[in-house]
Amino acid sequence: MDLFSGSNVLQDAAEIRAINQVIDSFLYYRNYYEEKLVDSRLSTITKLSEQQRELLGSTGVIKKIKTISSAVHANYSFFLQVVAYNPVSEHSIDIADTLASISDKDQILEVFQNFFQVKHGKQMEYASIPHLERLKSALNMMVRDWSSEGSYERNLTYAPILRFLKKHFPAEKKCDRSNTKILVPGAGLGRLAFEIASLDFYCQGNEFSYLMLIVSNYILNFCTEPDSLTVYPFVHDFSNVMKASDQFRKVTIPDVAPCSLLSENSDNFSMAGGDFLEIYKNDYGGLLINVGPLLWHYENNPNECSIELTFEEYLLILQKFGFILDFEESDMNATTPYSLNHKSMLTHQYKTPMVVAYKPLK
Ligand SMILES: C[S@@+](CC[C@H](N)C(=O)[O-])C[C@H]1O[C@@H](n2cnc3c(N)ncnc32)[C@H](O)[C@@H]1O
Repeated sequence: MDLFSGSNVLQDAAEIRAINQVIDSFLYYRNYYEEKLVDSRLSTITKLSEQQRELLGSTGVIKKIKTISSAVHANYSFFLQVVAYNPVSEHSIDIADTLASISDKDQILEVFQNFFQVKHGKQMEYASIPHLERLKSALNMMVRDWSSEGSYERNLTYAPILRFLKKHFPAEKKCDRSNTKILVPGAGLGRLAFEIASLDFYCQGNEFSYLMLIVSNYILNFCTEPDSLTVYPFVHDFSNVMKASDQFRKVTIPDVAPCSLLSENSDNFSMAGGDFLEIYKNDYGGLLINVGPLLWHYENNPNECSIELTFEEYLLILQKFGFILDFEESDMNATTPYSLNHKSMLTHQYKTPMVVAYKPLK
């Protein structure tokens, strides 16, 4: 499936740099998280008195901290696969293969540094902490979009949209779904767009995060067997954990193998990289379905131009743009979790109204 359909990001030096920053964060994942999750705690333990260490040892804490390395290693193996199959960066399958065969993390760093020097002719810039921290949310979003466990959440958010589409474009009637174009802006890891394309609609997912695009590219194009990959998405969090086994819970993905379900020649599904507002400037009308809360992406970024609306203000502006709200099909009382860790002692619930609105074609 084409990743950057309709865009020319690969000719743009700034975009290529942004892509490489994401790739570097995948490659650096293991070193960063082993230091952050394991080494720092083990070093704190050495500062404790012998009595305190004995006390901790008796609860299994020290053993638990050491076990984290293997979970981090498994996540790292997944990210190396993502790098090996990434369609855009100069980093290639060779570096991913080489790194996968090394067990010592200091040696990983050395190989990675040499690789960087040869490729870029300069010393490696360490992957930035925000990029590395985002890898946690990519793993959590994999649970939401591509695991059996995520079906609970998908049933609350994606299923109402799919039900609506099936009802309004019934397959058995004379309705040509392949000529019905559906756009999923901010498609994340692409599950909703994939489900819509599986109903034979022409569907394009759009996403401006290279992290999301590169991970979804791997899942959508290269995962041929269900449950063939194992990740440990909850290993990074030490707060609100009931039992150690909850933190080490493994999740297998994908619950369905997307590339075997979409037919070989299917040209009814694509993912487009880039800013939704830039790519789809010309709005000719159509049907809008939105399920979700109101997270304003740039709220805490003073350098961005951002005015955050309430839900009521958003509905008013929608109507000023010519949309007609369909209150019968909308559901203003829906609630769902987002990227839920159902074993955590902390769970969030969002109000996620489903809004259906039409804009007549001019
Ligand atoms: C909260 S996530 C939701 C992802 C997915 N729809 C889901 O339900 O799991 C929102 C996504 O929208 C993307 N996004 C935000 N603003 C965007 C824009 N202007 N153009 C394209 N993608 C955007 C973000 O990168 C993020 O992956």
